[in-house]
Amino acid sequence: KQMLLWSCLRSHICCYLSPFFFFFSFFNLQVVNGIEIYSMKIDSKITSRFAHNVITSRAVNRGNVHKEVFFDVELPKTAFITNFSMTIDGVTYPGTIKEKEVAKKQYEKAVSKGQTAGLVKASGRKTEKFTVSVNIEAASKVTFELTYEELLKRQFGKYEMFIKVKPKQLVKDFEIEVNIFEPQGITELEAEGTFITNDLQNIIKKTFSDKKGHISFRPTLDQQRTCANCSQSVLDGDFTVRYDVKRTAPDDLQIVNGYFVHFFAPTNLPKLPKNVIFVIDISGSMSGREIQQTREALLKILDDIKEDDFFNFILFGSEVQTWKETLIKATPENLDEARKFVRGIDTAGMTNLHGGIMRGIDMLNAAHERNLVHKRSASIIIMLTDGQPNVGKFEIQEHVKKAIEGKYPLYNLGFGYGVDYSFLEKMALENKGLARRIYPDSDAALQLQGFYDEVSNPMLTDIELNYPENEISDLTKNSFKHFYDGSEIVVAGRFIDNNQNHLTVDVRGEGANDALSYTTQQDAQQTDKAFQEQEYIFGDYIERLWAYLTIEQLLEKRIAATGEEKENLTAKALDLSLKYKFVTPLTSMVVTKPEDYNNQDGIADKPIEGIDIFKILLYLRIDGDPHFIISVPQKEDAICFNINENPGAVLNLINDPVTGITVNGELIGDKRANSDAKIQNTYFGKLGIANKHLDLKLTVTPEKITIQNGNEKTGFTWLDSVTLQQEGLTLIINRKKNLVLSMGSSASFVIVLHQVWKKHPLHQDFLGLYTLESDKLSEQTHGLLGQFFHPIDFTILEIHPGSDPKKPDATMIVKNNELTVTRGWQKDYRRDPKHGVDIPCWFVHNNGAGLIDGVHTDYIVSSLF
Ligand SMILES: *[C@@H]1O[C@H](CO)[C@@H](O)[C@H](O)[C@H]1NC(C)=O
Ligand SMILES: *[C@@H]1O[C@H](CO)[C@@H](O)[C@H](O)[C@H]1NC(C)=O
Ligand SMILES: *[C@@H]1O[C@H](CO)[C@@H](O)[C@H](O)[C@H]1NC(C)=O
Repeated sequence: KQMLLWSCLRSHICCYLSPFFFFFSFFNLQVVNGIEIYSMKIDSKITSRFAHNVITSRAVNRGNVHKEVFFDVELPKTAFITNFSMTIDGVTYPGTIKEKEVAKKQYEKAVSKGQTAGLVKASGRKTEKFTVSVNIEAASKVTFELTYEELLKRQFGKYEMFIKVKPKQLVKDFEIEVNIFEPQGITELEAEGTFITNDLQNIIKKTFSDKKGHISFRPTLDQQRTCANCSQSVLDGDFTVRYDVKRTAPDDLQIVNGYFVHFFAPTNLPKLPKNVIFVIDISGSMSGREIQQTREALLKILDDIKEDDFFNFILFGSEVQTWKETLIKATPENLDEARKFVRGIDTAGMTNLHGGIMRGIDMLNAAHERNLVHKRSASIIIMLTDGQPNVGKFEIQEHVKKAIEGKYPLYNLGFGYGVDYSFLEKMALENKGLARRIYPDSDAALQLQGFYDEVSNPMLTDIELNYPENEISDLTKNSFKHFYDGSEIVVAGRFIDNNQNHLTVDVRGEGANDALSYTTQQDAQQTDKAFQEQEYIFGDYIERLWAYLTIEQLLEKRIAATGEEKENLTAKALDLSLKYKFVTPLTSMVVTKPEDYNNQDGIADKPIEGIDIFKILLYLRIDGDPHFIISVPQKEDAICFNINENPGAVLNLINDPVTGITVNGELIGDKRANSDAKIQNTYFGKLGIANKHLDLKLTVTPEKITIQNGNEKTGFTWLDSVTLQQEGLTLIINRKKNLVLSMGSSASFVIVLHQVWKKHPLHQDFLGLYTLESDKLSEQTHGLLGQFFHPIDFTILEIHPGSDPKKPDATMIVKNNELTVTRGWQKDYRRDPKHGVDIPCWFVHNNGAGLIDGVHTDYIVSSLF
């Protein structure tokens, strides 16, 4: 992997392949390149949990020719960008918020004029990346300014804000400054950085008193160095601020300029007993590390279950099995027995998710009907799966909704990338719960446990916050199934009469011992008084907080909606996003760069989760013949082979029964057959990528690109520049070069167009295929290329002279076979389309015999789909 990237960085194919590579390669060279970032400031103002952050970066081109300067930052996924501007030599170029389609057209126009454009895409666990670049003249200066806003959520008794810090070079003037104003008063304030060493700890200045908190972090150049004379920066990681507010009452109501916000977080309530059903996927795809991590997490969770709680485990593979027939009280003996059961959980069969979840709901319903569990208790279903259900998703959603009837929240945890996350999310949201992704890393058990901790202390059920209907409009969500200790409920709304400055709220909920019911009120003068000492507060923050919360909830509702309702929700969310200038999934920010510098257009999007172009684990390259090249990162080497078949043959390249993805390629030959040669040159002339689960088919030829979505067909040519984003599909066509495709939350592909000279006597245009994030495909993935997504190892012995003196032969031990292989240099035509560049690899003869599973003809299929 490393080697591939490096060989890529040394050349310019990166830019040719994709703008992402270009940006990546740049940073390894930027200091040499003469660009100096001399100032970087992150200024954060938090008022009543609403954070307004401005990142300003200033750079100068110290070189003597014009240079591309990049600005890239990572933002929390929960944040919305609200402004971006660039100032070059004193002239400011502002960003404007547009509806996504409009913005795309503008962007495409720039691209079709042959101008490169900075596109923002890539997202991580908690963050997404924003990238913009601009070309500046020698000795010129540029200032980038990005603003984003977010509502901080309370979790485990604290509000947390993190700032991703990664300047990538030493910055003369680096500063993080956070100012917090909380009218209720601040009780604690912490700041820490994952990169902060003991030496740096005392550079963080932290003070708070009453309503105000202040944090600043200003390391000098020397303090930023990784070692005394090093030029590398230690600043690389998360800078996190945590605080909590004083609570003299459960409610805090704030009224400003015709809007109100209500923060509700009662403390000192007794905890409710809870009834938890764990519905766990034990299908075959969970085997290995996933099931191991699941067992580990469940054992930890069992340690935290309280004696008053009831619980049970339901496992689903092909069959559904339950630990106990009914919910069981968490006595020490039962917990011990449960531990034994959990240790014995093993994988088996398919994904009978439907059976598993329905059994769980039935069991919980029965427990309530038979009064087996406490009358005053909170019931929860937590489902964990890493796959896709084996029967209709729509039916499952219908059945689950009907069986739960809003009685308890359903929490769906999607393990890894093989899950149909949107299915899980929709089902959870329809049932008052939420979905969470569990990333398949070494800390997966901790992630699972962390989720459980969030919901492990219910204090109230059926919470309703009611405001006088005739006084308030555009209220955000005001009824909640559960309230968990350490969290907070936030409701915002607008007064019908803009001048109204008084509000009464009626609070109801069900607690452990009795019902909660009271009325509380607030007037604007009280808010005014609380805010008196505050000068930096932005006056309309409650209105913006209301808009943020409303958009967030509309977008969430949209996930579970269909038809006209969905259209209405979309229209409303779009309208608010434009009005309040939030970059949401429905809007984009367009920055028109100055005429003198190529008139590039940049575009800021909320990225689609899952596109991470750096994750090329291996690749397939096709030139002249279908040469398959399998990189073996741990060996820093590659294996290659050819498949010699006749034009017209269709080969199965990738087939993943779990994600439903298939990639097939059809061979084409030269314009006329070479009568002298025994083996004819072939190329891939047509690629077919299908996702069965999404009912999606993409056909690519050197002439055109066709998408079939159900019965709907859309066509493009390679002359188009397109960024298409619809449910389950993202397609970017980079005119005459390549296209990037990602389907659902699964793997992404890049198809490269190879064009030969039009009047070439022999050759025709053909295609190359690259897979990105192949780790998102399941372990059951197969196919000529797909089988190599699983780690492969080989040993080379007895290197000896072969028939060609320049190409030694050797014995390769691979998959328990002993093969004679030849050191070859496959031509890579990407960098130099005319002459190609040699890439060393071990060539396996006879159509990959002994390396591939079975024989190559096993992979011939009857048609592209
Ligand atoms: C965006 O930022 C620019 C530069 O600071 C500023 O001039 C402009 O007023 C801002 N726009 C909004 C809507 O805040
Ligand atoms: C750092 O560089 C200075 C000047 O070149 C040199 O005198 C000093 O010994 C170096 N320090 C370290 C720790 O290498
Ligand atoms: C959608 O909005 C239109 C116009 O405001 C309204 O007439 C219609 O009832 C709405 N439909 C739904 C399903 O909410």
